[in-house]
Amino acid sequence: MPVAKIIGAMAQTSVKQLKIIMKGRPVMGPRPTVHERKGVLYQTVFDKDRGQFVERALPRPGALTRHSATAALNGSAGAVSLAPVDLSRVTRVLEDTEVRLRAAHATHLGYPYNLVGKASVPASFDDLLINNLGDPYVGSHYGTEVCALEREAVRWLMDLWDCDDPEAHWGSIGASGTEGNFWALYLAREALPEARLIYSKEAHYSIPKAAKILRMEAVCVSAGADGAIDLTALEHALTERDRKNGIIVALTCGTTVKGAHDDIGGAVRLLEDRGFAPDRRFVHVDGALNAMVLPFLEGPPSGILPSFRHGIDSLSTSGHKMIGTPMPCGVLISRRSHLERVATAIAYLRSNDTTLMGSRNGHAVLAIWARLLGHGFEGYRRDAAGSYVRAQQLAATLRSQGIPVLHNPYSLTVVFPEPSDEIVRLYQLACNVGEAHAVIMPNIGDAQLAQFEKHYRGWWEAHREARSRPEAVRN
Ligand SMILES: Cc1ncc(COP(=O)(O)O)c(C=O)c1O
Repeated sequence: MPVAKIIGAMAQTSVKQLKIIMKGRPVMGPRPTVHERKGVLYQTVFDKDRGQFVERALPRPGALTRHSATAALNGSAGAVSLAPVDLSRVTRVLEDTEVRLRAAHATHLGYPYNLVGKASVPASFDDLLINNLGDPYVGSHYGTEVCALEREAVRWLMDLWDCDDPEAHWGSIGASGTEGNFWALYLAREALPEARLIYSKEAHYSIPKAAKILRMEAVCVSAGADGAIDLTALEHALTERDRKNGIIVALTCGTTVKGAHDDIGGAVRLLEDRGFAPDRRFVHVDGALNAMVLPFLEGPPSGILPSFRHGIDSLSTSGHKMIGTPMPCGVLISRRSHLERVATAIAYLRSNDTTLMGSRNGHAVLAIWARLLGHGFEGYRRDAAGSYVRAQQLAATLRSQGIPVLHNPYSLTVVFPEPSDEIVRLYQLACNVGEAHAVIMPNIGDAQLAQFEKHYRGWWEAHREARSRPEAVRN
């Protein structure tokens, strides 16, 4: 979005915030409204004695402060004035913010975000509201939408993930991988209302969170040292009650911390062998990162591939991870029958309600569509292959220094001991009980990796030396 437009939007913020604050206050007569004219905020209130609406200039509202979004603009820490601010100050703050974000991008290594930095959608779309209301497959009178492009992007992923009969599948673009997981578990619960959910201890936190919100009974099973679900533990978790009620299993293609791949084929076979026919099970695969990595790499065993041919029910991924959109978003694909079970017609939309969110971000749809179709299979193949080679190189370099490293096959995630806080902050490393990881995304070049290796090695040597001193051991 051009900076001038952002400034315009921010200038409106104070008015909007004040409206929110005023909403619900006890007032005499109709609710007051607030508007801005020539840099002054006015409140229009109903004057009972005069039987008229009157306009009152609002004082610079020190008392009406509750949001910190514009704290920087007001030059105060926490307290925010709702009065319009000097626009040159807005410009300066936005410029500073952009500099900060670009610097953070330059060293970013710990989260699986593809910071390719190439805007795939022209800036001329920035001032358009685009809202994919309703079901992407049900036409509506509403015109400010890009549902056809949403369907095309989803179809691209259906082909990638082996939906042999696309007509028997459904997909949509939502806010994130988390939303995909949430909606998949909702579809699962509606398919098998009494069934328990089984997930691994390495599953993303959105899985147990969704189960909690949906009030589903959930059981967490162990994972191997590599981070993949332990199929023996999964088998032991199955009970007679599950055989009666059915079972819901959430698997992961690329776990958050270790980048591990659950054996999807093995898990489905196990369920089948234990008497859970397709109508007695619901298997969701959370492929937030690696459902957009494995299909492009040479050689992964078929069991870990994100594929509907395993007999799974749904599969999700994030848009801002390997796909490379500049805003958080995600895609969920499911068997169509699961959607038909929950669809309800919404008369005023002239569409079906089949998504968690009512309004859905059309800009995210454009971004995913433009990335998938513009970059194409070959672009992602190149990216995945290049990133995987770099991840292997990083793992090998660290290992050659005697540093313990976990690097799962076909994964871009390299796990190593948690370094100093300075390094954690600079590279924005995700840490988990003494371990940290780097995720080698396509935007990470040789120079950035070499800088990190040098930095990390320096810390490791100093750390090892300190640990080898007798007083350190005693401490
Ligand atoms: C395995 C896994 N699932 C889900 C998510 C959540 O995805 P999102 O950030 O798109 O909500 C993540 C995030 O890193 C993840 O690693």
